[in-house]
Amino acid sequence: MDDYSDTLDFPLQEFDRLLSKSKDLVLARYAELGGNAHPGHSQEQVFNWFNQPLPETGTDMDSLLDEIKTRVMDTPTMNIGPHMYAYVMAGGNQVSMLADLLASAINQNVAKWHLAPALTEIEKRVIQWAAEFIGYANNNDTGGAIVSAGSAANLTGLTVARNIFFEQAGIRENGLFGQKPFTIYASDQTHSSVDKSVQLLGIGSRQYRKIPVDQSFQIDLSALKSSIEADLAAGFQPFCLIGNAGTVNTGAVDPLDALADIAETYGMWLHVDGCYGALVASLPEFNDTFKGLDRAHSIACDFHKWLYQTFEIGCTLVRSWDQMKRTYHTTADYLDSSQESGNRLDINEHHFQLSRNAKAFKVWMSFKAFGSQRFKDMIRKDIALRIYLDELLVKAPDFELVTSGKLAISCFRYIGSGQYSDPEIRRLNTMIIPALEQDQRVFITGTRLHGEPVIRACIINHRKDKSHIDHLVQVIREVGSTLEVELTATAP
Ligand SMILES: Cc1ncc(COP(=O)(O)O)c(C=O)c1O
Repeated sequence: MDDYSDTLDFPLQEFDRLLSKSKDLVLARYAELGGNAHPGHSQEQVFNWFNQPLPETGTDMDSLLDEIKTRVMDTPTMNIGPHMYAYVMAGGNQVSMLADLLASAINQNVAKWHLAPALTEIEKRVIQWAAEFIGYANNNDTGGAIVSAGSAANLTGLTVARNIFFEQAGIRENGLFGQKPFTIYASDQTHSSVDKSVQLLGIGSRQYRKIPVDQSFQIDLSALKSSIEADLAAGFQPFCLIGNAGTVNTGAVDPLDALADIAETYGMWLHVDGCYGALVASLPEFNDTFKGLDRAHSIACDFHKWLYQTFEIGCTLVRSWDQMKRTYHTTADYLDSSQESGNRLDINEHHFQLSRNAKAFKVWMSFKAFGSQRFKDMIRKDIALRIYLDELLVKAPDFELVTSGKLAISCFRYIGSGQYSDPEIRRLNTMIIPALEQDQRVFITGTRLHGEPVIRACIINHRKDKSHIDHLVQVIREVGSTLEVELTATAP
């Protein structure tokens, strides 16, 4: 790189040229959204591209951008394309991407109000809008935190739960010492981030009761009540119930209103993991499904899912900013802004992190650009496409629809054209996921339901239409029938 000055900056004209060249890389990528979903490079190949020594001197920026084009921009898994069905990958939106660039350009630290005045107010506004979007804004004081993702949103919600619930017992000062073991309850379909949170918070997996589910993968309420009663009788302290507003496996929504009743009866905290589905509560036709969400003490949401944001951004909502402060506030001489005037809110006093980037900005900019109605339209479209996929699967003799909740996940099996035994179908559906990855045209993953392997299509992506769903079924059929040949050739 040329030695321009004694800073790391380029002269403005050169910066302009590099921005423009970077923009060309973006446009080239967006001109080809419909290609294969998986790039298909081997681990060895990718390792070798980057197996380079730490550079002592710089590379000329044009060569560097060329290298980035071939090895990064031209090689992604196509999260942003219409053939992605794996895990929960929502594609992002272009306004969100532009916001990331703009926010990076001014590099604000959204720790304290006086460090980032506009972006602090924007973050508070986004928390308020999110609450309003899903019907949680009973007052104007909904508090919360913008966090890295859904896992952090669950950890944050459960941290507030623990610190507020045991506030009188001085848990922040005493830690867990002196408490009788307290127990936490959720369905056995609950996301693994809750297991991590329970371990991190010192509650311990042994105190985490995984309650069985019914046929629709919703928590079994009588098993839940029996478990709480048994714990009370055994001298435990039932403390928190977790409801799912959309499980990651099937999109099942627990009966949240009934959970809120149970939480009230036993004086427990109700946390809702809404990372997958809570944003669907914005649609009035789902009022019954999400009834009771507004009674939760804390809700975890994920904006890189059903608000189509670029990675990464999650959000925890709680009933008031005061609860956040009582959970996290500490003092330090070097952090005293000594300007505690008016309504300035210092986010570092309401959250674990100190230095923070301006993630909320992209949600704010997206809501402003599209309006909340457009997001609702896209969510509706995703759900309609899941229904369309289900219809195709039900009609197809070589597929079997196993389950699909009310949202946008469909779990199914490829059963082929022969008369296969259960173990053969199990094998077929285990083999098909890596075979589809190798095929590269679509990117889809599987899961296990009641121990049985299934193919799982998650449809959260505003770039899909019916033709993409037809393509998915066709690709699985083609790959599946190749595997059938193998299956019959290796039959005993
Ligand atoms: C229900 C649920 N909870 C939590 C998470 C974790 O979210 P993240 O991957 O953003 O950490 C997910 C992710 O899919 C999820 O579906």
